[in-house]
Formats: sequence, C-alpha cells, structure tokens
Amino acid sequence: MGYNVAIDGPAGAGKSTIAKLVAKEKGYIYVDTGAMYRGLAIHFLDKGIQPQETEKVIEACKDAEVTIAYEDAVQHVYLNGKDISSRLRNEEVGNMASVTSAIPEVRKKLLELQQNLAKTQNVIMDGRDIGTCVLPHADVKVYLTASVETRAKRRYQELQEKGEDCNLEEIAHDIEERDRRDMTREIAPLKQAEDAVLVDSSDMTIAEVVKTIVDLCR
Ligand code: DC
Repeated sequence: MGYNVAIDGPAGAGKSTIAKLVAKEKGYIYVDTGAMYRGLAIHFLDKGIQPQETEKVIEACKDAEVTIAYEDAVQHVYLNGKDISSRLRNEEVGNMASVTSAIPEVRKKLLELQQNLAKTQNVIMDGRDIGTCVLPHADVKVYLTASVETRAKRRYQELQEKGEDCNLEEIAHDIEERDRRDMTREIAPLKQAEDAVLVDSSDMTIAEVVKTIVDLCR
C-alpha cells in the first residue's frame, strides 16, 4: 500500500505548484488529476463537441483512452497513445474539463486509473474529489484554498509573464464561475473532506504552504 497525500481545492489555489514541491521534498510521485480531465476534454474538442452536448460527450468517452507516464518525474498525459501534455493548459480546455467533469461517465473513466496509481506507490494527488471520493483513506488530506482576489491576481501575473493579453476582472469572473460549477455539481463536487486540514494560502508564501504540508506527512 502506498502512502497517499490528497490535496483538493478550487482552481488557482496553487495545488499543482505546492504538490510538485512537496513531492520533490518527500520523494512522492505527483499525480495531477485535473490533467486527466483536461486530456479527455481535448478528445471532445478535437471531435468538435460543444461543452453542453452531454450525449455526444458520453458517446465520445467510448473511444478515448487516457494514460499517463512519467519522464524525469514529470507527468505526461497520453490520449489514445499520443502525448498531448503541451495542449493541456489553456482556458478552452480548462472550461471543457470543468463542464464535462460533471458527467458521471467521464468521472468513471478516470477513477480507476487514479486509484491504481495510488495503490502501490507513494503519491501526492491533487484535484477536486481526491480526499472525498478517489482516496477516502488517504494518509494526509489537505484542502488548499485562497480568496478569489488572490487567485485571480496570481493567474493574472502568470498570464502576463507568458506575454498573454488578460484582464483581471474577467479572470476573477471565470474563477468564480469555475468554483460554482465544481462545487455545485451532483457527482463528486468540490468540498473539504471532514478529515482534511484547511490551508488558506491567501497570505502565505509558497515555502510556508509547502512546509505546512510536509509537516503533516510522516
Ligand atoms: O485542476 P484543473 O484546473 O486542471 O482541473 C480542470 C477541471 O477538471 C476542473 O475545473 C474540474 C475537473 N476536475 C475534477 O472534476 N476532479 C478532479 N479530481 C480534478 C479536476
């Protein structure tokens, strides 16, 4: 049985940044489950499906195979055997993932893959439902959050550094919309597990958050 650390929280809370650093410090494997939902989202987008076309999404699930592999400890996502990692991080894909992840058939497709990864290895896995559904018996559970304002500012800076055109108010609006969708869906909504430790990173440095979580681990 692997040692399992679950990190859940809303979009832009810094889960992946923090989880990667904790993984490095503790020698765990970092599993990014959002990237798997994004991988399926790319499959739907490539087929020209609109986010709201639920029946088409369910049908398209049948010929999608998402797998992951690690190269130099970095997670790569494969869609039907093709490495699509470089396409994962954009707003269109994120929105498609957020909408389609509310569909039970989509979640079912990824659940087993996620659980198997945690079975035999020491992992730190981030997502929305890791502590509540995927790994209910995780050794450590963290609910990592930050205010909408803080998360919007961080995303804004990130995009600016990439040289992308962006607007702070629009980003904040998108974040609120994504939160609402992820928290109010019927199946596996984003919420703090009863036994999760709440970490609000609004006024914390990255190093402080990492230390807080490392201290919770054995
Ligand atoms: O963390 P992220 O932005 O890469 O996730 C993209 C979307 O995938 C997110 O808005 C909701 C969905 N998701 C999910 O439903 N469950 C997870 N464990 C991870 C992500």
